[in-house]
Amino acid sequence: MNQVDYLRISLIDRCNFRCQYCMPEGTELDYIFKQNLLTDEELLTLITEVFIPVGFTRFRLTGGEPLLRPQVVELVRNIASLPETQDMSMTTNGFLLAPIAQSLYDAGLKRINISLDSLDADTFDLIIGNRGRGRWQAVWEGIQAAYQVGFNPLKLNVVVIPGVNDSEILDLAALTIDKQWHVRFIEFMPIGNGDLFSDRGWISSEELRQRIRNRWGLTESQVRGNGPADIFQIPGAKGTLGFISQMSECFCDRCNRMRLSADGWLRPCLLNETGQIDLKGALNGGVSTAELRQQIKHLLTIKPEINFKQRDSGNSTGIYTRTMSQIGG
Ligand code: GTP
Ligand code: 5AD
Ligand code: SF4
Repeated sequence: MNQVDYLRISLIDRCNFRCQYCMPEGTELDYIFKQNLLTDEELLTLITEVFIPVGFTRFRLTGGEPLLRPQVVELVRNIASLPETQDMSMTTNGFLLAPIAQSLYDAGLKRINISLDSLDADTFDLIIGNRGRGRWQAVWEGIQAAYQVGFNPLKLNVVVIPGVNDSEILDLAALTIDKQWHVRFIEFMPIGNGDLFSDRGWISSEELRQRIRNRWGLTESQVRGNGPADIFQIPGAKGTLGFISQMSECFCDRCNRMRLSADGWLRPCLLNETGQIDLKGALNGGVSTAELRQQIKHLLTIKPEINFKQRDSGNSTGIYTRTMSQIGG
């Protein structure tokens, strides 16, 4: 059985972007009320008294957009400085990153994943919901700042949408040639974006690899990362190419993670909530951390049966209504 030691912690379900594939404009979202978010104190109690004792040692901060969380640098410092923390990372849209990249690094965040769906500012605006211009530039500056500060690995996530950004695959892949950047192409998933997915469909990782192979050749890396990506490299490139293929492949068998939502629900799978535990409710209701450890140990034993294949939500078309920002990416 896979060791499940990686917790994805959603700090907030709100976002300053409205990516069409994640939380399209016009979607009614029931945001979590501020008073229902896990407080910093509750989060740290859960990490130190519940998650670490049951074997979690790797933590990723996600959202929504995690940099919208007040005191995020302090939170990073508190989690990264725990002796048991072996890996501390963040997935961000990069918009607010440039000015605080150094502080995050100094606080103990040593690696980061940033979304970059396009190199073209207009396409980028279209994807993120056209909320004012200049956003691409700010994200690009965030990426540059992260690189200069020394985040390593620095991963750039690209959700590939047919007819929107797939024409840029080679340009995005080329970013890995001269810099030690790791570009990951993610197959577009039907989560909270019904119309776009129905209109556009998705492109498989194998098709993308074929396009890249035709241009430069492609070698398979022996290194396997932490997560679901299959790693390749353009011959001689400094960085790597990752392919996250949850539509064309099932990687549930090697799943090593659980998710904690911003309001404190522990979920065993991205797309299947069976067995989920309301940790905030339990803490506030006086349930002991010892009891919570027992409940999580039980959830860990049944986790292999809870996966994408036996997904429990979504409608008959297989399109999920909850958005990635609500699930925590
Ligand atoms: P690394 O630890 O750096 O490899 O990160 P990661 O790939 O786990 O994290 P990231 O937040 O960058 O996730 C990238 C994408 O992987 C997400 O957008 C999802 O599309 C996909 N993904 C991550 N976790 C899961 C999961 O548990 N199940 C499925 N189906 N997809 C996932
Ligand atoms: N399909 C695939 N990936 C998605 N993400 C958000 N929505 C989707 C979707 N529908 C990705 C973002 C980010 C990560 C946390 O989730 O691009 O990289
Ligand atoms: Fe925000 Fe990330 Fe969702 Fe885009 S994909 S709307 S940046 S949470």
